[in-house]
Amino acid sequence: MDVVIYPGSSLRRGGKTIDSFDDELRQVVSDMFETMYSHNGVGLAAPQVGLPLNLFVLNPAGNADEKDGEMVLINPEIVKRKGHEFGEEGCLSFPGLYAEVERSKDVRVKYQDLDGEEHEERFEGFLARIVQHEADHLKGVVFTDRLSAVEKLRVRGALQDFERKSTQKS
Ligand code: CO
Repeated sequence: MDVVIYPGSSLRRGGKTIDSFDDELRQVVSDMFETMYSHNGVGLAAPQVGLPLNLFVLNPAGNADEKDGEMVLINPEIVKRKGHEFGEEGCLSFPGLYAEVERSKDVRVKYQDLDGEEHEERFEGFLARIVQHEADHLKGVVFTDRLSAVEKLRVRGALQDFERKSTQKS
């Protein structure tokens, strides 16, 4: 799978609710993990590979040999948030760009797994950050939308570079 680079339009389209939990979905998820690892990512949302599906994968270890960390969240919904903290984020759709983003410290998330089973789980720290970043992708929101005025100014040139490169390509 190819990763859609900002400002690719699928990044703004978000994802549609998934209602069939079949082999095709399993294949998509498996391909997404492979794509995520090949780019050294810790999370990847379907719109980032051009698929308008409401799902993301993550592994905070970012390593295919550490399968224990793998999670697939389908039709996720953040139902509760607690606290705030700043932390550095990057995104496979913005190669080389890192910025400080304010996120909730602690989130409670309802989601379905690959069998369609419903779960409700609490995430904290780095995992909570990944979940919020990826859940944003499913709504067409990218991390640079969430920067403070100062951070926005700092990364403005880099964003313009991405925009220029994409115009040259098309
Ligand atoms: Co991202």
